[in-house]
Amino acid sequence: MATSGTRGQWSGQLGFILAAAGSAIGLGNIWRFPYSAGEGGGGLFVLIYLLFVILIGVPVMFAELSLGRTTHRNPVGAFKALVPKTLWPAVGGLGVITGFFILAFYSVVAGWTLGYLFSSATGGLASAVDGESSTAIFTSLIGSPLQAIALTAIFMVLTVTVVRGGVSSGIERMTTILMPVLFVLLLVLAGRALTLDGGVEGFVYLFKPDFNELSVPVVMSALGQALFSLSLGMGAMITYGSYLSDEVNLWKAGASVAGFDTLIAILSGLIIFPALFSVGAEPTAGPGLVFVVLPTIFNSMPLGEIIAFLFFALLAIAALTSTISLLEVVVAYFVDERGWSRTQASFAIGGVCLAFAIPSALSQGAVDALGEGGLFGWDFLTLNNNIWGNYALSLGAMLICLFVGWKWGAKKFVDALEAGGNKRFALPGSSIVAVLIKVVCPLAVLLTLVYIVITGSYF
Ligand code: PHE
Repeated sequence: MATSGTRGQWSGQLGFILAAAGSAIGLGNIWRFPYSAGEGGGGLFVLIYLLFVILIGVPVMFAELSLGRTTHRNPVGAFKALVPKTLWPAVGGLGVITGFFILAFYSVVAGWTLGYLFSSATGGLASAVDGESSTAIFTSLIGSPLQAIALTAIFMVLTVTVVRGGVSSGIERMTTILMPVLFVLLLVLAGRALTLDGGVEGFVYLFKPDFNELSVPVVMSALGQALFSLSLGMGAMITYGSYLSDEVNLWKAGASVAGFDTLIAILSGLIIFPALFSVGAEPTAGPGLVFVVLPTIFNSMPLGEIIAFLFFALLAIAALTSTISLLEVVVAYFVDERGWSRTQASFAIGGVCLAFAIPSALSQGAVDALGEGGLFGWDFLTLNNNIWGNYALSLGAMLICLFVGWKWGAKKFVDALEAGGNKRFALPGSSIVAVLIKVVCPLAVLLTLVYIVITGSYF
């Protein structure tokens, strides 16, 4: 892909769906979704999240993909191509910056999956039988400064290696095998979790909304989660769409990616919450939640050690297909707009990003740089996760909608979406999407952000 001036292309509709699903499915589904749901009170969070996926996520997915396919550019270049000499390319610039900073904390958590992979291979998870013993393992793994940094670095090197070689060949092949296996494994785990003592309680927690939990910060975090999980609001889907040809049906491709991604998130909720109630862990445990809860399920299963190894291997690969898309956005910008070589850009950006990842890697016990209690009660990793993963993505999604709905125009957008004759999924379908893009999405994000700024209730 993108060798000596030519831009690459996905091998076709299926290849693209797999690559985009590879970007979407990752730690966002298996690590971030359960922990945000746990902090947001369970069922109500899940309900709002699902509404946002449908009302905001899917339309923004269509918007980003059509911007990318129409212009065949990175996020900044896409705006430049459509409206040169305006301020709009800055929206793409915000996306590039957001991608960089998401990568800087995401690679830390991805490093933890490698740590768990090594531990599961060496029997290091065997003593995780309840919430307390499992927490002790987690704390020692991520609390060691050297280890946390080394694992992050290994993950960054893997990401740089793939992005340097060009995205299409590597990612497509990896996801074709990975997705079905991951899905089956998650189904098996959910089956096991639901039959644990107390499992049903977890099921109820996940699906029964408690409307007393309703607050603007919960809405904000559900919105951020919907966008984060679908890789939206920062141009990853503009970039992936830019390697698409007109024969691909964007209606189908976009909706399938959103559907798979949401299914995987719900499935991981069906694993974590039943298991959590059965071992007596706290839903509000924060970023460590999944890492504490999962080993206890593995230890309750026959062949648990092998399953644990397989699971963490798959999770690491799922995380890799996401970090690749994050780095790709930044690299595509430097290659397209600044004329860097792909190799130069991948190494330089990966290296600088690793330096920015160190404070997050150290913030989970090794060094408490923000002091006792952190900022807004958040440690450095959580702070970045919220700023870039919730606020920046929401702002980005709002600006993309305003652009597509009002500046580029709904008519051109729908034509681009249906280019190549893949149209008329339903005429009302396109007008519904147009209304969502023009009005519903920008208004929802704006109101939420304004409320949060005015009241200062960040969480
Ligand atoms: N969607 C990815 C995940 O769920 C994370 C991601 C966010 C990737 C934004 C690209 C852009 O893990």
